[in-house]
Amino acid sequence: MTESSKPQAQYLKDYKAPDFLIDHTELTFDLQPLSTKVSSLLTLTRVGDKKAPLVLDGIDLRLLSLSVDTVDITDYEIVGEQLIINNLPDSCQLSIVTEISPETNTSLEGLYLSGGAYCTQCEAQGFRKITYYMDRPDVLATFDVTIIADKKYLQLLSNGNQVDSGETSDGRHFVKWQDPFKKPSYLFALVAGDFDVLKDTYTTKSGKDVELALFVDKGNLSKTPHAIASLKKAMQWDEERFNLEYDLDIYMIVAVDFFNMGAMENKGLNVFNSKCVLANQETATDKDYHTIESIVGHEYFHNWTGNRVTCRDWFQLSLKEGLTVFRDQEFSSDLGSRALNRIDAVKVMRTHQFSEDAGPMAHPIRPEKVIEMNNFYTVTVYDKGAEVIRMMHTLLGETNFQKGMTLYFERHDGQAVTCDDFVSAMSDASGVNLEQFKLWYSQSGTPRLNAIQHFDSSSNTYTLTIEQAAPDNQPDNKPLHIPFAIELLDANGESIALQYKGKKLDDVLDVTSTTQTFSFDNILEKPVAVLLEDFSAPCILNQQTTEPELLHIMRFARSDFSRWDAQQQLFIKAIKSQITDTTNSMLSSETINALRVLINTKEGDLALIAELFKLPSFDTLAAEFEVIPVDEIIEITEKFEQQIADELADELLACYESLEDDGSISASSVAKRALKQTCLHYLAKTQKPEAVSFIKEAASSTNMTNVLGALSAVVKASHPIQEELLNHFDSQWRHDVLVMDKWFALQAMQSGNKAIDNIKALYEHPCFDFSNPNRVRALVGSFSHFNTAQFHRSDAQGYTLLGDLLIKLNAINPQNASRMLTPFMSWKRYDDVRSQAMKLQLQRLANLDGLSADLYEKVEKALA
Ligand code: TRP
Ligand code: ZN
Repeated sequence: MTESSKPQAQYLKDYKAPDFLIDHTELTFDLQPLSTKVSSLLTLTRVGDKKAPLVLDGIDLRLLSLSVDTVDITDYEIVGEQLIINNLPDSCQLSIVTEISPETNTSLEGLYLSGGAYCTQCEAQGFRKITYYMDRPDVLATFDVTIIADKKYLQLLSNGNQVDSGETSDGRHFVKWQDPFKKPSYLFALVAGDFDVLKDTYTTKSGKDVELALFVDKGNLSKTPHAIASLKKAMQWDEERFNLEYDLDIYMIVAVDFFNMGAMENKGLNVFNSKCVLANQETATDKDYHTIESIVGHEYFHNWTGNRVTCRDWFQLSLKEGLTVFRDQEFSSDLGSRALNRIDAVKVMRTHQFSEDAGPMAHPIRPEKVIEMNNFYTVTVYDKGAEVIRMMHTLLGETNFQKGMTLYFERHDGQAVTCDDFVSAMSDASGVNLEQFKLWYSQSGTPRLNAIQHFDSSSNTYTLTIEQAAPDNQPDNKPLHIPFAIELLDANGESIALQYKGKKLDDVLDVTSTTQTFSFDNILEKPVAVLLEDFSAPCILNQQTTEPELLHIMRFARSDFSRWDAQQQLFIKAIKSQITDTTNSMLSSETINALRVLINTKEGDLALIAELFKLPSFDTLAAEFEVIPVDEIIEITEKFEQQIADELADELLACYESLEDDGSISASSVAKRALKQTCLHYLAKTQKPEAVSFIKEAASSTNMTNVLGALSAVVKASHPIQEELLNHFDSQWRHDVLVMDKWFALQAMQSGNKAIDNIKALYEHPCFDFSNPNRVRALVGSFSHFNTAQFHRSDAQGYTLLGDLLIKLNAINPQNASRMLTPFMSWKRYDDVRSQAMKLQLQRLANLDGLSADLYEKVEKALA
């Protein structure tokens, strides 16, 4: 690539307010697969420099005409991806007619035709693939949209309210929509297709009736009730917890098969990946049900946090995403198990986010430099962003946090604002000083905390010293304001009241400097400390907690999350000591006994017990090492799993047999199935004759959670029965691609040398399609993320497979290619042979003609 053709970076520091505003936008779409005509009429007002030209963004557009107040203009130029118009009056109506080709658009960005329906995806910068526009989130306009199409596209949908419809003179039809709320272009949506519709209504707490409509592909109505129920729960929860009501008369959701992400919050017209909507007990797992509820909630919650108040520029993405993820996590926690939701969120942080933050793509939750915005829809912006909001919630408390939200909407409703504006509202409403806290927005990397504990029996005083160190890759970081939650347990497992010199102390410590000591007195014996309770800050904590202390925490901590966390630490310690010191060969009998007690007594939440039995994932363990010992982690994890299976086989059997679920999605049935699945996972590794019959029974169940539990148990155990079961599943489900994605993911997990050839063969499977992101992720994404042994083969065949795929996807769908690249980003953390082989694949990409900006940005950073 020559210097001038390299994709250019944008910087936060260069932000400049727009010179023009668009008060109103009128669009007319004449839909045709290869030549859709888009007529746009923009009402413009100059707000900046008198001489400034109007600069509009546009990509892959054919410009048909351009006029100002109905007079054709010639004083314009098209430079790269911009249309520059000079000498415009201070206010005018600009008319632009362009032509686009939805059928050949495989990027799934802009307007595309796939699976028989027209659909748009405009966030972040897709609107510029539809028409020339000021495609930036700080330009807010009301929209009128007219859609003209053949009648076979029965439903013609856009944002807001339908105001007109009818037939055209040439026998086609049209619908006109008006959105009364000003919005940026990224929230625009259009869908045209022939769908089945599930309709419902919701009455808001102030008594307004809202029409709900869920559009799905023909034949899928039986899979819609869960999503619509989730939507109603979300609407009610947002009224109760955040005092926020829905604002339009209609709320529509459309499910499409071809979609790059989970879903999109377009005003009044959400577009969803079908896998995040469709579910019934035969086809979806309990986990799918949970994901659907949380994503439906997430998109709904964006209506206030994202749409009513939006981002000034894309560097502020976490303003809406971090906050909305926090809101959807709270929604799930209020409706279901808080501990399990916390465990899930922390797993995402410790595996994906920490590794992103330690690698070449490390960026603050408010990035400062971006080449391709699509590359910044990351676990950092979303999940670390949510942790940052959660820390503010911890520091302020629920009441003050809600006061802050109210002030935020009072100040900024209808505006495009910054992360600083949000923090100001929080601090002004609560009186809590958040100046130092703001560093969380500008510093990347994971802070390292060191906890040093001391107990002085002569004064009955316990002291805790917390040191915070800058991340290795960000040595210049300043100390952060960290809410550090603790619990002190006595020998009986009782919680000790925190006090010092007669003063009661809070259980959230304010850590603000590099070293800080906290003292607690009136403590009669050395306590066992639960540190960073509930993962109160996204940090790596180094603590010298012993195995007996961890076992004590696992039994007695008031936080179920912290009990799980202690159990994970036990496993991690055992696995690490096994890798560094092979004499110490097995899980301790105390650890095995603790597990035994858990399944024998089955006290508390069964789903939590299921979690407590799971060894840390490969990625979690990998994070513990400077150079990832791939073979050792795999070998020792398998050995420990085998040990649990062998030593607890009878208990696991008895537990499995005792659990009867009624097939419903009630929390207790879901928990039973989760524990059954964990039992089966281990039983498949034993020689118990009952195991095979349990597996067969579960595999032929009509409940997908049970079926998939059985299949994944046999695949992970390389059980001889797997081929028979997988073949049966294939013949049973070929008609349902979403179910087949589960099968592709299972196929990707095959152990042994045939794994790679198997994947290549599956590229030819009738259900597989390189242009569908769900298929590609199910097969190759599962392989590269979860089939560690085969992906990281030392003969590099796994890497070549992914490299070949990325080259292919670069031309089809750069956004998907870029997300599939992730495993290569941490190439430097592997041994020489593996890292050189991964690097080779990155270099192949770097030398590729026509490398997309998406891949370019990541490849360049990875190789730098
Ligand atoms: N704003 C969407 C969400 O978080 C994310 C999203 C959906 C997206 N589709 C996208 C982002 C395409 C970038 C590109 O709910
Ligand atoms: Zn979102």
